[in-house]
Amino acid sequence: MNKIVEEDCAYVAARIDVRNLAGRTIVITGAAGFLGYNFIHQLAFLCGNNEGPSRVLALDNYRRGRPAWLEAVAARCAAVEVHAFDVVKDDLSRLVHPQEVDYVVHLASIASPTFYRQYPLETIDANVWGLRKLLDLFKGTALKGFLFYSSSEIYGDPSLENIPTSEDYRGNVACIGPRSCYDESKRFGETLCYYYHGLNKLPIRIVRPFNNYGPGMSIDDKRVVADFAKAVVEGRDIEILSSGSPARTFCYVADAMVGYWKALFYSDFDVFNIGIEKPEIAVAELANIYQLTGRKILGYSGKIVRKHSDDPEYLKDNPQRRCPDISKARRLLEYDPGIDVRQGVERYLAYLKEEHKG
Ligand SMILES: NC(=O)c1ccc[n+]([C@@H]2O[C@H](COP(=O)([O-])OP(=O)(O)OC[C@H]3O[C@@H](n4cnc5c(N)ncnc54)[C@H](O)[C@@H]3O)[C@@H](O)[C@H]2O)c1
Repeated sequence: MNKIVEEDCAYVAARIDVRNLAGRTIVITGAAGFLGYNFIHQLAFLCGNNEGPSRVLALDNYRRGRPAWLEAVAARCAAVEVHAFDVVKDDLSRLVHPQEVDYVVHLASIASPTFYRQYPLETIDANVWGLRKLLDLFKGTALKGFLFYSSSEIYGDPSLENIPTSEDYRGNVACIGPRSCYDESKRFGETLCYYYHGLNKLPIRIVRPFNNYGPGMSIDDKRVVADFAKAVVEGRDIEILSSGSPARTFCYVADAMVGYWKALFYSDFDVFNIGIEKPEIAVAELANIYQLTGRKILGYSGKIVRKHSDDPEYLKDNPQRRCPDISKARRLLEYDPGIDVRQGVERYLAYLKEEHKG
């Protein structure tokens, strides 16, 4: 296992109650993606310490290819089964009896704006119909936890008095526009979760991730953190495709993973912002961090340049600021992210260096 990933798995394991996972059956949808990488590696890490689940069903439709890392983890961890599975079309009860499943983590969705704008209906399908299919399957079972991945995008472009943004903010979202397939299907997914919990007592918890990055994120992902990493790894100039002023807080994935596991194990229906409150930095400052850290880790010598995206809708409805209020997760989950963006970018680049060597 990549050294950085192994350290991250140990960091997460030290902060969650791993006894919840021992001997369990766990379904991960969207397992081949960025957060799937972190879930699957964490579970395999626990199996290596004899604290792991007995069965992990790693499901993905592999629209963007079947990653080699997933096969490699399955080859060394007998509990991990890899299946080509589309949450919209396929029937999970063919792979596992619903009564035998303890936890479901529903990650499957197209998540990067570049790709969800290309496949808007598939994005809606995974977040609405795929979700509903899963929820129907687990009605009346002994499921212990169902984690639905919503998004900070459900807040749209928050008004200034709602930054930092708390879970109570109802949002400023365009229901028609290039991002609406994502924002609105996540919102409707949350509505489905609310009713399935209320009507069927399903143990659903919802998380709203705020800009995660780090190991497992493909450098071809097209989110800004991946674009900058790709430029550094390939020794090209870092291109800023906006004015550079939109501001975000960036949460290193190991911190976010602690929040996700804690939310999955939480005892009640609830919704949690998972991210980090500070520092809120402009995209131009993030580019500086990549440039300096790239110099240190990879001997990078590229410049930072301004460019226009070929996609005329690249910036349409792009929120100017995004910063979470995570006091609820701090209070109820004892979630306490501690990895600063400089340290996180350094870890991400060190991970990529090890992945790309040779
Ligand atoms: N990473 C973040 O910062 C972030 C932020 C907000 C929300 N989220 C949400 O978290 C979840 C995971 O995000 P990620 O960053 O890992 O995304 P990702 O794009 O890296 O991975 C998503 C995976 O889902 C799979 N998928 C898509 N449609 C599917 C379908 N119909 N059936 C089966 N698999 C399907 C894709 O093939 C992909 O492997 C997504 O729901 C995303 O919207 C992530």
